[in-house]
Amino acid sequence: MTDYLAINKTAWNTRTDIHFSSTFYDVDGFLNGKSTLHAIELGQVGDVSGKSLLHLQCHFGLDTLSWARLGAKVTGVDLSSTAVEKAQNLAEQTGLDAHFICSDVYHFGTQCQQHYDIVYTSYGVLCWLPSMDNWAETVAKCLKPGGKIHLVEFHPYLDIKFGYDYFHKAQPDIEEESTYSENAGDDKQTIAVWAHPIANVITALIKAGIEIEEVCEYPYSPYACFDGMKAIAENQFVFDEDGPEFPLLYSIKGRKKA
Ligand SMILES: C[S@@+](CC[C@H](N)C(=O)[O-])C[C@H]1O[C@@H](n2cnc3c(N)ncnc32)[C@H](O)[C@@H]1O
Repeated sequence: MTDYLAINKTAWNTRTDIHFSSTFYDVDGFLNGKSTLHAIELGQVGDVSGKSLLHLQCHFGLDTLSWARLGAKVTGVDLSSTAVEKAQNLAEQTGLDAHFICSDVYHFGTQCQQHYDIVYTSYGVLCWLPSMDNWAETVAKCLKPGGKIHLVEFHPYLDIKFGYDYFHKAQPDIEEESTYSENAGDDKQTIAVWAHPIANVITALIKAGIEIEEVCEYPYSPYACFDGMKAIAENQFVFDEDGPEFPLLYSIKGRKKA
């Protein structure tokens, strides 16, 4: 099988360096106290004060540390060693109590001994993983009984819009793509990605012992991360404000059975 972890780790180490100096990620704004969390996830997750929160695929930690600023006891996990190193530096710089681990999600799941109140993961995460069943088992294993999973993700309808298959295939698509921050330039990284229809994500969570509490779809994205997006409100971007509305994001809230 393709060594997808090696391919994606190399890509994300390169992308992290690009992202860290981008206005898209605005690290200076974060260091000056700005939260990188948006209304959707803040509303869905609610009060995190005093709760243990595991952030899967945390990139270089801005969202993880924003949850820490709201009082969560945070652990971030990411495949990219560059991202984890930068996240640890940001935690030290800001004096926030946070723990970051460099690991593949599935490998972390097999090793994880701790159980968390919340597992959070968001915006561009599932396409890097080959199997929703393994992902959902990792989520369930890391949660305390009664603990909550919060996923906020780009809608798989976008796969169709960008010319990809909607349905899942075992083999990844291997692509040469530039990243989404404004300073990406012409550099392309090789990436290995999979499509995951919402039905597969929900079914995998149910099979892993998660009760689904809410599924939402949103006709906008808080990030202008695709070419041709326009603002319709603060932190709300769409492709065509005059065209028919279609879903750009979805979210799932679930609870591990007690
Ligand atoms: C699009 S980013 C997540 C972005 C995040 N929402 C943000 O803006 O900060 C995807 C992240 O998934 C990580 N990743 C990819 N494959 C992974 C894997 N198998 N295990 C853990 N992390 C992985 C990448 O290193 C990257 O940091």
